Amino acid sequence: MKIGYLQFKPELLNAKANTEKVSDMISGGTCDLLVIPELANSGYLFKSVDELVNVAENPDDGKFCGMLKKISGETKCHIIAGFCEKAQDNGNTVYYNSSILVFPDGKYRIYRKTHLFYDERKFFIPGNTGFWVYDIYSEKYGNVKVGMMICFDWIYPEAARTLALRGAQIICHPSNLVMPYCQNSMYTRAIENQVFTITANRIGLDVNGSDRVGFTGGSVILNPKGEYLSRASVDKEELNVVEIDPSAAKNKFINEKNNLFDERRELFYFRNSS
Ligand code: ACM
Repeated sequence: MKIGYLQFKPELLNAKANTEKVSDMISGGTCDLLVIPELANSGYLFKSVDELVNVAENPDDGKFCGMLKKISGETKCHIIAGFCEKAQDNGNTVYYNSSILVFPDGKYRIYRKTHLFYDERKFFIPGNTGFWVYDIYSEKYGNVKVGMMICFDWIYPEAARTLALRGAQIICHPSNLVMPYCQNSMYTRAIENQVFTITANRIGLDVNGSDRVGFTGGSVILNPKGEYLSRASVDKEELNVVEIDPSAAKNKFINEKNNLFDERRELFYFRNSS
């Protein structure tokens, strides 16, 4: 099956421009699964919650998610994209740093970022979905299990491990990475879980008044052996697609004697018992 990522530079607080740009870049593409960076509709560097009002959207009727559903329906590609989500909580409007998995039939699933990074807590509430795995259909391989985590979730090995224990064959990882560690660390996430990983990072600078932050690009796809199937530049917009056999992620034998998951000894692992 064909899996890929879009690496691009969103325009801060300009949901219309970002929706048009992503649409232009992914329309007509042919792949089974495409991953798009974190907060792709809004950009990253907010200064106040007020700024989210015009860019955040409800996935049922938002324009960015609507565009993804339309393109998924046309191309039969499953699309996972980070977006700024608006939701209701006990009558209050709240915001999540979320990703959406869009199926070609228009259905969707949402993951809300569990581990918020740095100032994100000022704008978003921590995700309440947990880490779940969904079947996407590939003509050649039938149902393939995919899971989502967002950017800073990578630094908690438990995130990828939970997805892998739930059967994920491909971990999809929309990102806005600012530190240089993740792209190389995904090598370990792939090996220690024997899964494929797709990290779709953004590039460029967000500037908001006197604040600025740069993003590190270098989107990566790895296979369960830790081989880099794709590695993007640090500063260019790119859409890259590779061919994989997802069944490789079902084999959890490291060698003929060691099975990664069967030999876990949970008894000795730290668990907060409270
Ligand atoms: C990050 O979690 N966006 C660094």
